[in-house]
Amino acid sequence: MGKITLYFIIASLFYLCLGVTIGVVFTIHSDLIGVFLPMHAHANLLGWVSMMIFAVAYHVLPRFSGRPLFSETLGNLHLILSNIGLLGLIIVWPLLRTYGTITLQAIHIVAAVFYAIGAFLFVINIGKTVFGKD
Ligand code: HEM
Repeated sequence: MGKITLYFIIASLFYLCLGVTIGVVFTIHSDLIGVFLPMHAHANLLGWVSMMIFAVAYHVLPRFSGRPLFSETLGNLHLILSNIGLLGLIIVWPLLRTYGTITLQAIHIVAAVFYAIGAFLFVINIGKTVFGKD
């Protein structure tokens, strides 16, 4: 198993633990839902679900297409950007909802752009792998 796949699996399992823990906290303290809902939803969907999909895609799609992954460098960049971006998003979101400062909004935007750039790199990398001419 490649390093990119391995680290995406580790990240995904970490976000699953975080997401379901926040979910359980919600069942006990429903007053926290308003502030922490984006943290729960995005840890689960962008973290647990998407990162497990990225992990499986990096392992399986090059094999399905009979070609090596187009770029390990792009894959590593995707891993780093998506995790910095998602951690930034889910940490800043509750703070933004509570304090609403311009600085927090700026960090939130940067985190979102990091995650999005990582996603575009994934599209390019997997696109070149699956549809590239050899
Ligand atoms: C132990 C597991 C979990 C518990 C106890 C839990 C609990 C909750 C609670 C209490 C809410 C707030 C509902 C409301 O607005 O009143 C919520 C929202 C949400 N949860 Fe979970 N959850 C769990 C796991 C998951 C997982 C695994 C996912 C996705 C893969 C997920 C995705 C979402 C999403 C997207 C929302 C927002 C829904 C909306 O605003 O309409 N949750 N969850």
